[in-house]
Amino acid sequence: MFCVRVPASTSNLGCGFDTFGLALSLYNEFFFERWQKFTVEGEGEGTNLPKDENNLFIRAYLKACEYFGEDPKPIRVIQKNSIPTGRGLGSSATAIIGGITAFEILHSKRLSQEEKLKLAISMEPHPDNLSPALLGGFVISLWDGKRLIYTKMDFPEDIKVVVAVPNFELSTDIARSILEQKVSLSDAVNNIQRASLMMASLCKREYDLLKEAVKDRLHQPYRAKLIPGFFKVMDRAYQEGALAVFLSGAGPSVASFSNRNFENIGKAMTKAFEEEGITARYLVLDVDQ
Ligand code: HSE
Repeated sequence: MFCVRVPASTSNLGCGFDTFGLALSLYNEFFFERWQKFTVEGEGEGTNLPKDENNLFIRAYLKACEYFGEDPKPIRVIQKNSIPTGRGLGSSATAIIGGITAFEILHSKRLSQEEKLKLAISMEPHPDNLSPALLGGFVISLWDGKRLIYTKMDFPEDIKVVVAVPNFELSTDIARSILEQKVSLSDAVNNIQRASLMMASLCKREYDLLKEAVKDRLHQPYRAKLIPGFFKVMDRAYQEGALAVFLSGAGPSVASFSNRNFENIGKAMTKAFEEEGITARYLVLDVDQ
């Protein structure tokens, strides 16, 4: 049996909508082998996921077979999932990258990183979770519908990511459907300025700039309506010394950067959710470099 382990990711990082992605030290493991029919077994998070050809790992495997003109061979997959599903932590991206990797191994094909990412984007049309799931680390991705450009950056090793994970799922499709398709020039400029500032503050380790840099006007103001207590969770994390706080991907998890006081930040964030009637837990994660 083969095994592929793929990291969770947090994307957008506030101001970098559909662009910034960061791999985290939390993993889904996929064990697979050829079998008589497509079968999925699972333990851990997401045990309610489809157990047949509708499973995302198998769909990605089948997509790769179709793309490269190979006959699909039935496989058995055992998923050991540690990443909560539907919480904006890149769980779907792990299944897509895992399924494509299974194709490579079982069909003895060697795909370039770019081929894998382009194939993955045909299943999830924004690259910001897929790139770090494949490459690890902090990745900036650009996808214009035709061309994919990505680059991996160093990420400060003293920053951890504290994530508050509420006990409800939020579909990415719904969280995208409420966004404006046209945005004002001032909102676009806001995000360009702050995304640039975020890159500079991470590169130069000027952490005091992160709180301003992270502020977004393209998605968080709309999505906040879907996440009870979002702004309260954010405020509490800052009160405990977080450097930057933002919606993790499309939500509903809220993530923060910090270089100290990790447990207290996590506790304050979950308490804020609980005051709004939402049960939540927190995770203190490293960046998977
Ligand atoms: N950038 C995507 C979004 C990430 O915010 O919709 C989805 O996880």
